[in-house]
Amino acid sequence: MTIRVGLLGYGTVGKGFAETIQSHQERLQNLLEGEPVEIASILVKNPTKKREFPHSSLVTTDFNELFLQDIDVVIDAIVGEEPAFSYCKKAIESGKHVITANKQMFAKHGKTLKKLAEKCDVSLGYESTTVAGTPIIRTLSQLLQVNRVERFEGILNGTSNFILTRMKENKVSFDQALQEAKDKGYAEADPSNDINGRDAFYKLMIVSELIYGKQPNWNEVFVEGIDVIRSDHIEEASFMGKKIKHIATIEWKDGDVRASIQPIALTHHHPLYAIDHEQNGVVIHTDLAGPLTLAGPGAGASTTASGMLEDLVHIFQKTNRKTHQLL
Ligand code: HSE
Repeated sequence: MTIRVGLLGYGTVGKGFAETIQSHQERLQNLLEGEPVEIASILVKNPTKKREFPHSSLVTTDFNELFLQDIDVVIDAIVGEEPAFSYCKKAIESGKHVITANKQMFAKHGKTLKKLAEKCDVSLGYESTTVAGTPIIRTLSQLLQVNRVERFEGILNGTSNFILTRMKENKVSFDQALQEAKDKGYAEADPSNDINGRDAFYKLMIVSELIYGKQPNWNEVFVEGIDVIRSDHIEEASFMGKKIKHIATIEWKDGDVRASIQPIALTHHHPLYAIDHEQNGVVIHTDLAGPLTLAGPGAGASTTASGMLEDLVHIFQKTNRKTHQLL
């Protein structure tokens, strides 16, 4: 049998996913009892846009056409809340597994989709919504079951960290560093949410739901981006031996979830001080294992594809196991 993929979107993430399926086909098949993984259909908004398509015959602009292709899993590689939410919902209701990298959509609708997936007995993977291929979601959901997470802090936006690093180390201007982040595929097509803190906010809300089963009231979360940072702030911090980092924090305090997102000057004692360029990093403060630090690339085509393919293998190995148990 072949695992047939319906791919939503062919931007940096979608294209990266399609290419990685090809480059890692043998590895995937080894993990999936010889089953090939193939793209059955690709949904795009604008089919006339110039792109290098290895499979241009698979392109459609009609979401419903995806379902004519007998697909097993829908990969959501589009940006923004809609139509992504409606598409994922419909896919789950039609009995398809879903893997998403869409943080904005998942921060708002993750809870609904998780419940729906459970009801429809399909799997929902969302590793790449948060810190891309660096396995934060799997660590929190599967590796820390007995531990209680008292606090979570992280650098959750690669573009911001890249800009702060370039401004400090190479004295490049904010605008030039942002352009570099765009060129390298770290920044969103519209980078506003990268630099105003909103992108990190969405990721933090996904983490909040996972750790505490709820999110704080969105209007009560203090969100400040790196767009308030100027070179003299960076130099001042440097003079005092510190680095400005964009830090998202969440903790359980006084019976509720408290969250904030803002640039903070860290000393070298802080585990996130050394996380530079497009790297992301998180510190998970647990009651038993103590503070755990996990760091890795948080933006870019390859790491995002990595998180999505790990989800895919996890889902289909699980499905295989289920089938075997039934037999
Ligand atoms: N634009 C995002 C970032 C991509 O820079 O972190 C990964 O979500």
